[in-house]
Formats: sequence, C-alpha cells, structure tokens
Amino acid sequence: MNFRKLSVRDLDAVGKRVFVRVDFNVPLRSGSVADDTRLRASLPTLQHLLGRRARVIAASHLGRPKGKRVPEMSLGPVVGPLSALLDRSVRMAPDCVGPEVEAHVRDLAEGQMLLLENLRFHPEEEANDAGFSARLAALADLYVNDAFGSAHRAHASVVGITEHVASSAAGLLLQREIEMLGRLRESHESPYVAVLGGAKVTDKMDLMHNLIGKVDAILIGGAMAYTFMKAQGMPVGASRVEGDRVEHARRILERAQEAGVGLHLPVDHVVAPSPEPGAPGHATRDAKIEKGMVGLDIGPKTRELFRGAIAPARTVFWNGPLGLFEVAPYDEGTRAVADAIDRSRTFSVVGGGDSAAAINALDLADHFTHVSTGGGASLEFLAGVDLPGVLALSRAGGAAR
Ligand code: 3PG
Repeated sequence: MNFRKLSVRDLDAVGKRVFVRVDFNVPLRSGSVADDTRLRASLPTLQHLLGRRARVIAASHLGRPKGKRVPEMSLGPVVGPLSALLDRSVRMAPDCVGPEVEAHVRDLAEGQMLLLENLRFHPEEEANDAGFSARLAALADLYVNDAFGSAHRAHASVVGITEHVASSAAGLLLQREIEMLGRLRESHESPYVAVLGGAKVTDKMDLMHNLIGKVDAILIGGAMAYTFMKAQGMPVGASRVEGDRVEHARRILERAQEAGVGLHLPVDHVVAPSPEPGAPGHATRDAKIEKGMVGLDIGPKTRELFRGAIAPARTVFWNGPLGLFEVAPYDEGTRAVADAIDRSRTFSVVGGGDSAAAINALDLADHFTHVSTGGGASLEFLAGVDLPGVLALSRAGGAAR
C-alpha cells in the first residue's frame, strides 16, 4: 500500500521538542508490565528521534479511567521497562498538561525523553476537546503519531491535536502497520485465507462481512465456531454459544455460500466435561459434541484440514486463538495451525483483539510476517474503515491532509 502521509523520517527533529503519541496501553499484573510488546514496537520511532537529539515527549492512555485519576492506571510502571529497552533513563511527568508538566518539558535536554501521565485521566482527551488538544500541542514543536492501536479513536491526542500543529507525521510503527494491513485490504495475493478464532462472534461481524468479498477461504475455530455450528443445527453439548448471534452467524454462512467462499468449521474437536486444567479431554469422532461436553480446541482432523487449506495460500490473516490456549493441552490446535503458516512461507498477518497477546504467550510471533499491535484498530481498518488518526496526518510533500 502506498502510504502518502508525512513520516517521522521527513522531520527535521534535531534539538526540537517532539510530542509522540504512543500506545502504551499494556496489560499490568500486580503493578508491573505483563507484556511489553507495545513498548518494543515503539522503539524504532523513539530511537530514531532520540538519535537525532530530539527532546521526546511521549504520551499515551492506559486502560479506561473514565476521565478520573485512577492510581492503578498510572503509566508509572512503564518507565522502568522502557528505560531498560531504550538504555537511557526516561523521566515521568506527574500529569499530561499544566505548569508542572511544562516545567518538566523546559528541563528536557537534547536526546532526553519525558513520559506524560495517562491522557485519559482528563475527560477532555476522549471528548476530543479543542482546548485540551491545544494545551497538548503547546508542549512541543512537532507532532508524531505512532499509536496505531489507538488510530480508530478520534481523541484529543490522536485527532484534535493535529489542528494545533503545523504538520503531523506518522511514526514508523504506524507506517508499518498501515503498509502490512493495507496489503491485506488492497493488494493481497490469492489464494487468501482467513483464520478466525477467539470467543466472540460479536466482535467480528463487520470483519467477516468484509472478508467474504476478498478471501478464498475462512477457517473458523475457537469458541466462535460453536455459534456457527449451532446456526447449522449441529449439537454443541455444553460449549460456549452466543445465543443472540446465531441468526447472524446463519446469514454469514449464507453469504459465504453465495460468494463462493469456503467457510470451514471444525470437523472434530477436543472436548472435556469442563474447561478446568486436568479435566480428562478427548477428541470427538466427528463434528458433533455430545451432551455435557465442552468444546475446548479443534481436533486432529480439523488441524489436518486447516493445514491443507493453508499450504497453497499466498496471503493469510489470523485473528483469535483456535482453542482455550491458556490451558495446555488446548493450545495444540493454535500451535499446529501457526506451524502450518510458518511452513507455507506465505505473507501472514496476525491482528485484532487479544490475538497478538495469544501469539506472544505461545511464543509464536516469529511464525508470521507481521503481528499487529492493533486490537480494535486493525479490525476496523480491515473492515474498511479509514482510521481517524491516520486521516488526520499531514500528506507527504505538503502540509495539507
Ligand atoms: C487497544 O488496546 O485496543 C487500544 O489501546 C485502544 O484502547 P481502547 O479500546 O480503550 O480505546
């Protein structure tokens, strides 16, 4: 995809104060960063700027504090891991606007970095408030957006701020995300296969409708498969089904058939009486799940079927794990399909929801060409939405958008 926006590489950042919107909305466990993927993903842009002796002012949201100061949602825990990754000490501001923050910014030396406190402690952030946007913009000389994961949010630090700066550039992560996901959306090679899993059909309706116009096959696993099986009238035992989505699933099945897209549901499952670790599981003989049994992973025949569909693919998009991957051995289906993608050497992208977290937890990231840091952002982008955070950036070669 031809990305026609101004890039951080185009900026003359030497000695300048650069406001960088990052997405450090990372999972915290007992007050520590539980997964640093998003911190690592921001390094190329931060290192690029710091290497040019810019004074970097990074800002992010964390969680959904609803406009109030919630200590558990402070960005404080990010400072240590980020300093270690950057190999230089990162300062932390007590807020994201106000005189104290301005003093911190004035103190910044060339090549130093300041992290602002959670933007969402102020209700004006999500309201895309013009005054708040102007106060954020006033902290810096240049603006860079590298928060791909937040590009679907029309918030002050993502959209409003661009009205108050001379030009708005894309960071290297945001650029790479748009290039990779853009290839899926606009210039994929066929056969194109989508692998969809995870628990909720609800989150993927728009995506599925959009994929049906593009892909050659959709492979469905994870808990969402049981809602589709229910729509086909198959027995699903005590498996998780979204009752209010069965009708919608039926319509998707019909649409796929009309469009000539092969929509493959599991032909067997690994089931157990409960999802508890240690509950005795077994593979079913066929697609039916007997009474009292819970489907927890795709079965061996399904893995073989999915492998066969992936082998000739030139493009693969993956969203959502294919089984209850957190509880061994129900991670085996997800691993088998990731291995098949790795062997096929196809252009492959993982994105959406908790997909990256699942793939990282299973240590499978190197099996794919690109693992997107975007949850909702990547799904909305693939569903055809032009993301407000990207639209707001300046065009390359001129200040107009
Ligand atoms: C995400 O994790 O998807 C982004 O950081 C956006 O978070 P939000 O859904 O709370 O806006």
